[in-house]
Amino acid sequence: MTGNKTVFIKTYGCQMNVYDSERMSDTLAPLGYTPTDDADNADLIILNTCHIREKAAEKVYSELGRIRVAKGERAAQGKETLVAVAGCVAQAEGEEIIRRAPAVDMVFGPQTYHRLPELIERVRKGERPSEPEATAPFKAPRSPKVVETDFPLEDKFDHLPAAKAEVTRARGITAFLTVQEGCDKFCSFCVVPYTRGSEVSRPVEKIFSEAEALVAAGVREITLLGQNVNAYHGLGADGEMWTLSELLRRLSDIPDLWRIRYTTSHPRDMDDALIAAHATNPKLMPYLHLPVQSGSDRILAAMNRRHTASEYVELIGKIRAARPDLAVSGDFIVGFPGETEADFEATMELVRQVNYAACYSFKYSPRPGTPAATEADQVPEAVKTERLHRLQALLDAQLKDFSHSLIGRTLPVLFEKEGRLPGQIVGRSPYLQPVNVMAPSHLIGQMADVVIEGTGAFSLFGSLVGEPAATERRLA
Ligand code: SAH
Ligand code: SF4
Ligand code: F3S
Repeated sequence: MTGNKTVFIKTYGCQMNVYDSERMSDTLAPLGYTPTDDADNADLIILNTCHIREKAAEKVYSELGRIRVAKGERAAQGKETLVAVAGCVAQAEGEEIIRRAPAVDMVFGPQTYHRLPELIERVRKGERPSEPEATAPFKAPRSPKVVETDFPLEDKFDHLPAAKAEVTRARGITAFLTVQEGCDKFCSFCVVPYTRGSEVSRPVEKIFSEAEALVAAGVREITLLGQNVNAYHGLGADGEMWTLSELLRRLSDIPDLWRIRYTTSHPRDMDDALIAAHATNPKLMPYLHLPVQSGSDRILAAMNRRHTASEYVELIGKIRAARPDLAVSGDFIVGFPGETEADFEATMELVRQVNYAACYSFKYSPRPGTPAATEADQVPEAVKTERLHRLQALLDAQLKDFSHSLIGRTLPVLFEKEGRLPGQIVGRSPYLQPVNVMAPSHLIGQMADVVIEGTGAFSLFGSLVGEPAATERRLA
């Protein structure tokens, strides 16, 4: 079955999907599939989907409409196109996807990617879907379809090819590494516990060797991923369960790994050892994504977040005491069922107290199968929109203030790529902002100190320490 075939993978949703897409690509390489950016001419198209909000899921169906046309045109030229839907929409909707989008050949959930070669084989051999037989004789012959949304007993990570130096294509200076997957928290608005299953942590040494391989391939910054990454409890070489802070310490032993981040954390799982790691581990970046969703205790309880607003604010205080230059980002939902103007004002107040460096904020989107979706007191769309605007105006102002506060400071920047202007290169600050600097391209992959001189919408501008500032260069 090998040959020169191409695969186009489109990734939606969170960073975990980005990581999974890379692993799928690695799994397909031995079957002769090389990645392509040309969706219209690919032999295999995989949409790695997200179900978190209605809009995210709907995007998939509009993309499938376009793919249907391209698939038809290729068929007219005698070329076969296999279309697969992976990820969280696949897990949540299963066979429904094939009914709505007949161009789809395969549907498989996030825990089955290691079975990809077998699934492709099954489609090729002509497996039929498990639709009721009674309707079958009256239908035109259907193309073979495969749907795989079980949570298999075996662990996909044991079977997926880990990122290895020799198979990791030049994927750049920074990389994601999934250490924990799934969620047992069941916030009342959220689909993740249903689409990703219950919490599973990968063993420490497997993560360590994958990190070593990434570093050998040139990676200098790794972001550890998990839906609740700070709930990590993975088997260590000593037979004990290790926490995230212990895992961070182990990974810090890799000499050429310079920077470590982790995301996403839940406030309930920020233990003292992890907070202390922010004070003592110089490789751990002073930036923490710690979603709170709402500042109203009544809404937090209805969301099943299991902490109060003041507990969250105190926690932030504790983390900032350990690492004073730490920047905090968060996620917010406005218009959760029953949210009053007073509840929303409590969210605004929490934002003023915490002072965020960056945030994601969303209108509540009722998700099928979650408890909040069937609450009677849904908030009207217009009210959600208006509250989101007010919240985003405040968050945008805080983001700008934070960027401005960095002007004149010297920050270590890890350079990743060429910039848009000739002679410019771009790296990341410790706070994840892109930093544009006029500097030689041999610094890509290196870290250098940069004096921050200006800000853009989401980025910073600066000069290498010891070099003349941009303004001085213009005057010279
Ligand atoms: N595990 C993370 C969040 C994962 S989902 C945590 O506990 O914080 C990413 C973000 O999407 C959430 O933080 C939340 O702000 C948003 N989100 C999740 N479900 C949503 C829904 N039904 N409507 C709107 N936003 C939602
Ligand atoms: Fe969703 Fe809550 Fe789990 Fe985060 S902690 S993934 S918001 S259920
Ligand atoms: Fe979306 Fe699934 Fe991630 S629902 S946010 S892709 S875990």
